[in-house]
Amino acid sequence: MPKPARHVFVCSQARPPGHPRGSCAQKGCHEVVDEFTKQWQQRQLFAEVAVTPSGCIGPCSMGTNVLVYPEGVMYSNVTKADVTEIFEEHLIGGRPVTRLLTPASIW
Ligand code: FES
Repeated sequence: MPKPARHVFVCSQARPPGHPRGSCAQKGCHEVVDEFTKQWQQRQLFAEVAVTPSGCIGPCSMGTNVLVYPEGVMYSNVTKADVTEIFEEHLIGGRPVTRLLTPASIW
């Protein structure tokens, strides 16, 4: 198995309705996970990128949250519509998508 250059963790945490922390599932994270997986397959980036649904990664109220290593870049409020830009700019192009960065006061 090749070691990927980048590893994307997409929060897929769910919590019961009314939970004080909320969750990325309430913000549509499953659509985001599906879109990352679909594009990863379509783009055949199996050797370069790994995509893993994850548990909670922190700022639940700003979901969907996405964490990219090795840079440790976190994106917040990610929707399905943002996934193409993350692939093209960051995962392939190496330039983080500034407009989606989690605020520095949080991460
Ligand atoms: S539930 Fe997604 S960051 Fe906490």
